[in-house]
Amino acid sequence: MPDESLSITDNRTGKQYELAVSDGTIRAIELRQIKASEDDFGLMAYDPSFLNTASCRSTITYIDGDKGILRYRGYPIEQLVGEHSHLEVAYLLLYGELPNEAEFRQWSDDIRKHIELPPAVLQLIRSFPPGGFPMAMLATAVASLSNFYPEGRSVLDPQVRLLQIHRLLAQVTALSAQVFRRLQGLPPTQPARGLSYAGTFLQMAFDQVPEPVVEKAMDALLILHADHEQNCSTSAMRGVGSSQCDPYLTTAAAIGALSGPLHGGANEAVIRMLEGIGSKDRVPGHVQRVKEGELRLMGFGHRIYKNYDPRAKIIKQLAHEVFEVTGSDPLLDVALELERIALQDDYFISRKLYPNVDFYSGLIYQALGFPPSMSTVLFALARTAGWLTQWEELARDREQKIARPRQIYEGPPVRDVPVRKSSPVAPS
Ligand code: ACO
Repeated sequence: MPDESLSITDNRTGKQYELAVSDGTIRAIELRQIKASEDDFGLMAYDPSFLNTASCRSTITYIDGDKGILRYRGYPIEQLVGEHSHLEVAYLLLYGELPNEAEFRQWSDDIRKHIELPPAVLQLIRSFPPGGFPMAMLATAVASLSNFYPEGRSVLDPQVRLLQIHRLLAQVTALSAQVFRRLQGLPPTQPARGLSYAGTFLQMAFDQVPEPVVEKAMDALLILHADHEQNCSTSAMRGVGSSQCDPYLTTAAAIGALSGPLHGGANEAVIRMLEGIGSKDRVPGHVQRVKEGELRLMGFGHRIYKNYDPRAKIIKQLAHEVFEVTGSDPLLDVALELERIALQDDYFISRKLYPNVDFYSGLIYQALGFPPSMSTVLFALARTAGWLTQWEELARDREQKIARPRQIYEGPPVRDVPVRKSSPVAPS
């Protein structure tokens, strides 16, 4: 018998089973041996939306939702922000350690050399209507890279994977900047040399070298959004990647998942909500509507964080720092009042609903000069580092197979197709 185990009695048959417990987990596949009869397929675990299912082992990101802890490769997020750049953190995510000077120089060069986009992809972005959906533009443009780098399909080759990781990390900065410029009706720009990752993106977006305070804030936001273990878009990345699909199409799928208002799209939804509320005195009325179930308070609540989202704490502080330089935004006052009132209200307290990473991030992006519709693109730019690291970990994990959940079939039992009385009429 294993050191830790779970004894199960199947009351349908009276049979007893011992299931091994390790890391506080049983293997769902072990339930398969529990059968009501010989021809039974075996017991399944029903877990809609994966509320209690570990889909992988990972060494990348640690979250303690009750204590409000987020660590990348063991390092607390609070210590990484301000001390290290996003590109260093991307290296940390991928390799497990922060780079030394030489390693960082090599890493930066390996990425920087891929920043030029194929001209046809720039053309593609220019073909989108300026009023289009920026996340659809980004997903389409990322997916289109698959046509230009067909070697990316050799996903079993570690060297090929690393090359695509370098390329995607570089090109997502250029693509995000050019999507922004398309929204503004502006022509594409060229990258300048000698800037940081965040700085290169901002320079391409605004066609000028950014102010240090703006670059620093952008860099901090990139780090805070870089990875968050098995969230919806990362699960999409792993799920799609498990079919050995190339990283361009896989990343495009993750971008689609991120775009939804319950996930990354919440940062834009927060701005729209704050604009809709308009002023501090209208906050209580909005909160009342939320409590009556008419709406959700966007930027509040999280599947894992049931105390507070540590990223939200840092971002709130960052918002104050940015607004000191850029001048205040009246929407910040509405946001602060909304947070104050919600955190005192039993509806939110009893459901453990706190501001999440998206509550203040959209406000900062706006202060940096981006329209609300760009907020989720900036989230995707940051999260690409995490998605690619999780994809790499997936590729190295010998336990992983194609992701393929089961279902409980509730449709009709077998039946015969009715016999037609006359021959079918061809559609005109
Ligand atoms: N506003 C009002 N009520 C809420 C909110 C909210 N933002 N979030 C959850 N609740 C309530 C639900 O109505 C439910 O109440 P009930 O028990 O009376 O039915 C209870 O809290 C539990 O909610 P669930 O939907 O079961 O929580 P879940 O873990 O599935 O959802 C989610 C998490 C999607 C983040 C949710 O809190 C939400 O919709 N938040 C708003 C959107 C948002 O900010 N998303 C960004 C999340 S962070 C990220 O993805 C980067």
